[in-house]
Amino acid sequence: MITAKQLRQQYLDFFRSNGHAIIRSASLIPDNDPTVLFTTAGMHPLVPYLLGAKHPQGTRLADVQKCVRTGDIDDVGDATHCTFFEMLGNWSLGDYFKKESIDFSYRFLTEVLGIDPARIAVSVFAGDEDAPRDEFSADCWASHGIARDRIFYLPKKNNWWGPAGITGPCGPDTEIFIIRDVPACSETCSPACDCGKYVEIWNNVFMEYDKQADGSFLPLAQKNVDTGMGLERTVAMLNGFESVYETDVFRPVMELLDQKAADVPDRLKGMRVIADHIRTATFMLGDEKGVTPSNVDQGYILRRLIRRALRFARTLELDPAVLTECARIYIDLYKEPYPELGENSARILDELEKEITRFSATLQQGLKEFDKLLKYIQNNRMSGKAAFKLYDTYGFPIEMTLELARDNGITVDEAGYEACFKEHQQKSQAGAEQKFKGGLADHTEQTARLHTATHLLLASLKKVLGDEGIQQKGSNITAERLRFDFNFPRALTPDELKAVEAAVNEAIAAGVEIVCEEMPIEQARAQGATGVFDSKYQDVVKVYTMGGFSKEICGGPHAANTAELGKFKIVKEQSSSSGVRRIKGVIEG
Ligand code: ALA
Repeated sequence: MITAKQLRQQYLDFFRSNGHAIIRSASLIPDNDPTVLFTTAGMHPLVPYLLGAKHPQGTRLADVQKCVRTGDIDDVGDATHCTFFEMLGNWSLGDYFKKESIDFSYRFLTEVLGIDPARIAVSVFAGDEDAPRDEFSADCWASHGIARDRIFYLPKKNNWWGPAGITGPCGPDTEIFIIRDVPACSETCSPACDCGKYVEIWNNVFMEYDKQADGSFLPLAQKNVDTGMGLERTVAMLNGFESVYETDVFRPVMELLDQKAADVPDRLKGMRVIADHIRTATFMLGDEKGVTPSNVDQGYILRRLIRRALRFARTLELDPAVLTECARIYIDLYKEPYPELGENSARILDELEKEITRFSATLQQGLKEFDKLLKYIQNNRMSGKAAFKLYDTYGFPIEMTLELARDNGITVDEAGYEACFKEHQQKSQAGAEQKFKGGLADHTEQTARLHTATHLLLASLKKVLGDEGIQQKGSNITAERLRFDFNFPRALTPDELKAVEAAVNEAIAAGVEIVCEEMPIEQARAQGATGVFDSKYQDVVKVYTMGGFSKEICGGPHAANTAELGKFKIVKEQSSSSGVRRIKGVIEG
């Protein structure tokens, strides 16, 4: 049997021995990216480098990146879909291209993992008006002995990846599938089919285009390779398992659930949903940028996952405390590759327990209310008002109500629900969902300027409030505003706020050039650069210096000169959580 740990190791060793620098997994919460809630692929943290910025570690990189994708949440329970997964990735930043990339993949799969080449099928891009048919990749595969009838030409829908958002790096890809030893669903079955005959394990994207807002594709400054291999799926396929839940990263949790779950219909699906959702929740709660359950943004997704797991636990007649036991098992299983889970274990378990207690209290009553509502339903449609009541009184995320409605063969007036929601002047999670679906943002000039303002804000807070211990606790930037969290025990006085604002504006008025330098982390520390000197930084870091005002470790991007910022204004100062304050600011003109 091959374990997840072994595969991670073999993958990184192979790419290291082929000239790749190994970088660390970034946080699940993207930096300064207004349009995406979670890191959904290994390439997210690398977008600036795919667009041409120089990466401090060189032009060949590899890593294991933690990823969250909740778009497929309804598929969880099948053999391969998970809301959290680890992506093994290797990149060429303007270095090698198609031939070497395919050679690496073929050699890793057959020589290192020992997969019989007869079990491998691949797909390549069929070609269209945006890019030619990828005969080159097909020939590379054929040169390795992949039979022509196992090389499939598929259209953009299947064989094109990215951009992650609306614009940005993208290109045709070649995907690699394991052919499973099960009957094909039909004679025309191909990797485009999801019957289970072909399981995709690896995607090599040839990123040579930059999609523009008008839909056109311009050539990128450099030709990149971006690859992603699903760790859990690959381990499952290598062991001949039917599903990812049989692999070592799930097995102890599945065994626990199997001992305790009642013998009800759809038992296996319920167990898988719980195993998946609690694993994702554990990683979100334990992330270095730790998310906690809330009604907006990442916290809302986390809340949905925990509450959905609780609903399934109830169906399986499980004590809700079993969910915390599952989290404990995951912390143990993962704390070696992801030390943050061990370090943050108290927070993970506390917050999980709190959310479980909060929702367990109303779940049962809410389900009763749902059954009652069913009796009054007209035309098989639940009113928006009723759905809102389930949310407001019983804490049912709308997605939960929609799912229950579907199970009972009825629909919900979602527009009516939204109207009630807005009426109650609560922040709409629809915004968060929209953001989530939107993918990566452009790093526009305005967000770069706000990002620069964030550095000046931190420096000014330290100056006004005293340097002792003030640290960034979070940052979120949209095209309109910055939001900045930092530790401080009390609200700022109006005078302090004015002084902070004035200090930022002083740095802007000084019009200093913003200088970016790469240096070893020790040198950055010696120079007094701000930053959290923890394991998430690579050995060589970028340091942004803004005259005598600010020196901070950061990935960028930033304005070129502070004068570009216009006038900085604090629009709000409030508490974010215990001991953490939050400032919202804008730049004008
Ligand atoms: N970025 C590519 C993917 O997510 C490799 O499939």
